[in-house]
Amino acid sequence: MILCGHRGVASLAPENTLAGLEQAHELGLGWVEIDVQLTRDEKAVVAHDEKVNRCTDGKGKLRNYDWDELRRLDAGSWFDPAFKQEHIPRLRDYLARAQSLGIKVNVELKVYAKDDAGQLCRKVSQLIDKHDFDQKNILFSSFEPDCLRYLQVLQPGIPRALLVERIPDDWQAQLQLLDCTSLHCHHQYLTHDQADTIKGSGYRLHCYTVNNLERAATLKDWGVDMIFTDTPQHYLNAGWSPG
Ligand code: G3P
Ligand code: MG
Repeated sequence: MILCGHRGVASLAPENTLAGLEQAHELGLGWVEIDVQLTRDEKAVVAHDEKVNRCTDGKGKLRNYDWDELRRLDAGSWFDPAFKQEHIPRLRDYLARAQSLGIKVNVELKVYAKDDAGQLCRKVSQLIDKHDFDQKNILFSSFEPDCLRYLQVLQPGIPRALLVERIPDDWQAQLQLLDCTSLHCHHQYLTHDQADTIKGSGYRLHCYTVNNLERAATLKDWGVDMIFTDTPQHYLNAGWSPG
């Protein structure tokens, strides 16, 4: 089972920053997960929340910032003053660094109310083409099926995953329609039977956000292929492999 650093390595460095990516590298992880949105001037950036309040010294909706303003925010001090030089990264810079470190990236496309899913996907797709990022190093996921529909057309060579909290009854029809390779679900709601059915149908199964060793061991027994975790160091310290 692969250990994927959630938002970089969210327990050791401010989430969704380049420092988190370096941390993942130091731990020997092969995968990280990040969240992506667009600024007002349509730059794809790595950030989770709709507002910048929690993870920076700024205020208000991320989409109301141009890149030139957003890049000046301190995205590290809230976590620890030692990270005060961290900023919200552009997706292109994040993917470039990940590629040079040999780390694969699950790019989660975040769509908040009034966001344009099509525009987000077009911008992400354009920068992947422009900078020639290797398709093998990227996995797209989204809670928003529209994103997966757009990416199916824009980047058919990059695998896609449907993100859900609870697994819906029509999960298989949705995965088929969106031509997804994996299902990403909240681990708390997953049952052994569901895991058997999903794995038996030939899909990969990935669970978020698993920060408990005992639960992770159960998921591993059930055949879960990857977990997103804020605390990969706990598993590694217990002798697990990063996968
Ligand atoms: O992609 C898995 C997980 O990150 C989904 O939830 O809210 O942490 O982006 P969230
Ligand atoms: Mg996420």
